Amino acid sequence: MNEYKFGDGLHIELTSRCRLSCPNCERTRFKGEYKIRDLHLELVFRLVANPKFKKIMLSGTLGDPIYYPHFPEVVKKIKQSGKELRIATNGSGKKLEWWEEIFNLLDSRDTVCFGLDGLQDTAHLYRVNTSFIEVFEAMKLGAAINRAVIEWQFIPFNFNQHQIEEAKQLAKEYGIKFAIIKSGRFRPDDPLLPDIEWLPEPLKQKMMN
Ligand SMILES: C[S@@+](CC[C@H](N)C(=O)[O-])C[C@H]1O[C@@H](n2cnc3c(N)ncnc32)[C@H](O)[C@@H]1O
Ligand code: SF4
Repeated sequence: MNEYKFGDGLHIELTSRCRLSCPNCERTRFKGEYKIRDLHLELVFRLVANPKFKKIMLSGTLGDPIYYPHFPEVVKKIKQSGKELRIATNGSGKKLEWWEEIFNLLDSRDTVCFGLDGLQDTAHLYRVNTSFIEVFEAMKLGAAINRAVIEWQFIPFNFNQHQIEEAKQLAKEYGIKFAIIKSGRFRPDDPLLPDIEWLPEPLKQKMMN
């Protein structure tokens, strides 16, 4: 999923908030069995200040970091500490002005990874409640500002497998890095499993293992 070595990297899950309901995400599957919580800002600042950690990843398992109420302050603190940052998000629900502020805090060592699985007619089929246009506009803005690396993370499903090439071309056109990942969250009989013949060669091998 990413190149973080956990020796000098720290993954912080800021919040269990998210506005999407992806069906195979634990936060959707176990809805009602966990609380919506945010880490205390003081604790986050203390973790960020720890000199042992050179790289910070803001992602999560039960949540999406951009919905943390103090997200811009955390990004500011990480960059003031001179650390490398990777953000993994579904990217939805934020205005372009909000993104502009975030992108302008980042530099070339940082990555913002947007999870967007499809194009305008399909992206919402797994990422329930996302808007392709909204997320794509945020990615385009990030690429135009050209400070951090903007990554489009695309998970192949049977409803978007025919769009992989088109999405890859679209990303190239706007200077967005394109990454296809294998989902480890499929059940063997999952109705959303992609057909192996649509997948790029390295992913075919992974899917068969
Ligand atoms: C739980 S998410 C948290 C970050 C953010 N909410 C998101 O979905 O991108 C953590 C990582 O899981 C990935 N992910 C989301 N759905 C997935 C799926 N069905 N299979 C595999 N990985 C998935 C995301 O792309 C992200 O890199
Ligand atoms: S966007 Fe991420 S955290 Fe939110 S429901 Fe989907 S996978 Fe889970």
